[in-house]
Amino acid sequence: MTTTPLTDLKDEPRIHFWAVPDLTGLDFDPLLARLLHEDPVTRVRLPNGEGHAWLVTRYEDVKFVSADPRFSRQAVYGRSITRVAPHFIPMEGAVGFADPPDHTRMRRVVGRAFSARALETLRGHAQSVMDRLLDRVEEHGPPADLMALVNRPFPLAMVSELMGVPEGDQPLMGRWTDGILTAGAGREAGERAKADMARYFTELIGRSHGTGQEFLAAVLADAVDEGTLDEQEAVGLAVLIQIGGAHAVRNNSANMIYALLTHPAQLARLRAEPALLPQAIEELLRYIPHRNAVGLSRIALEDVEVGGVRIPKDEAVYVSYLTANRDPAVFADPEEFDIGRADNPHVSFGYGPHYCPGSMLARIESTILLESLWTRFPDLRLAVPEEDIRWQRGALIRGPETLPVVW
Ligand code: HEM
Repeated sequence: MTTTPLTDLKDEPRIHFWAVPDLTGLDFDPLLARLLHEDPVTRVRLPNGEGHAWLVTRYEDVKFVSADPRFSRQAVYGRSITRVAPHFIPMEGAVGFADPPDHTRMRRVVGRAFSARALETLRGHAQSVMDRLLDRVEEHGPPADLMALVNRPFPLAMVSELMGVPEGDQPLMGRWTDGILTAGAGREAGERAKADMARYFTELIGRSHGTGQEFLAAVLADAVDEGTLDEQEAVGLAVLIQIGGAHAVRNNSANMIYALLTHPAQLARLRAEPALLPQAIEELLRYIPHRNAVGLSRIALEDVEVGGVRIPKDEAVYVSYLTANRDPAVFADPEEFDIGRADNPHVSFGYGPHYCPGSMLARIESTILLESLWTRFPDLRLAVPEEDIRWQRGALIRGPETLPVVW
């Protein structure tokens, strides 16, 4: 960062109204693309909440804001900041709204459930779940909707397993997750789903005390018993992980399949060079615009200079990991989807203390999904022209409604 005296900095850039259109396919939000190149530290007004907030879009600036403790998540809670969704996603006391040292304490507990050993155990189980789901696709016959038969149930089963949610309760989890994450469902439906899911986890964690098990509900119950977490924090973590785990991968992995099916040269290269799969997954993560607009903001605790602009104390700031992933200062030909891209320090899982704790799980799931799908169905293709695929509307995380394929 440069050290221009704060008083000399440009401030008060114009405020862009960001309507957040429903986008289709992997189209990049045109306003975001323009801001990255023309107005990289700016102010926006979103459809819900009040006032305006800052928006930071360049790679280095995004990393700076995400990692600097002068930008607080805790200070966001309870304020009606301009935002996409009518309701706040995490609950009070949840990890997304915490700052260090509280945040560090909570993340340490989560880290136990995401330990390398826990993930290794899950990996073996994941393959057998996937094999069963693909059996069902085969039994169904073409055309089949991968969204319903694979992309939705697979991560839901994985995160539920990690959490300790019994198989019979998984459809309930799916319904609540959709209610919470679909902005179009309305504030009341979102709040109700969140309260129902919180009640469920309060009970599950309550039943898991002293069981000595390794699933997350038991790890959270132990942390409550040890006094590391209070009950509300434990439930908040459970809700957030259940939502993040099931929903993010469902949509992201569906977008991965779509990206490959609509870029035949890249798909052919991956089929010819299967060793490229880990690199291809990183490139898919970078290239796919995972969400609409932006996630949670942060509040400047003092005046801070970002990219030559003064962000005043007490104002809200959003970062865009999507535009950071398209910054030409870091990525050559950023608009190209190229599985040959070797140097790929994308920030699709965020940056700094709030970095996604599920990143390894997401990578494991995506790897098993793509590998198994093309092994079983080498001639997989879309069942309809690409422009006929319907995309979710009013959603926070982007993805197709259905993904009909033939083979
Ligand atoms: C491809 C899939 C996924 C993507 C692209 C993704 C992306 C992200 C991003 C960008 C953040 C926010 C960083 C920030 O606040 O600055 C985040 C946070 C989070 N993610 Fe993920 N995620 C994915 C999968 C998962 C999975 C599988 C889980 C859990 C099983 C999960 C759980 C969480 C949680 C709990 C947080 C909040 C962390 C905190 O605030 O400290 N995510 N994720």
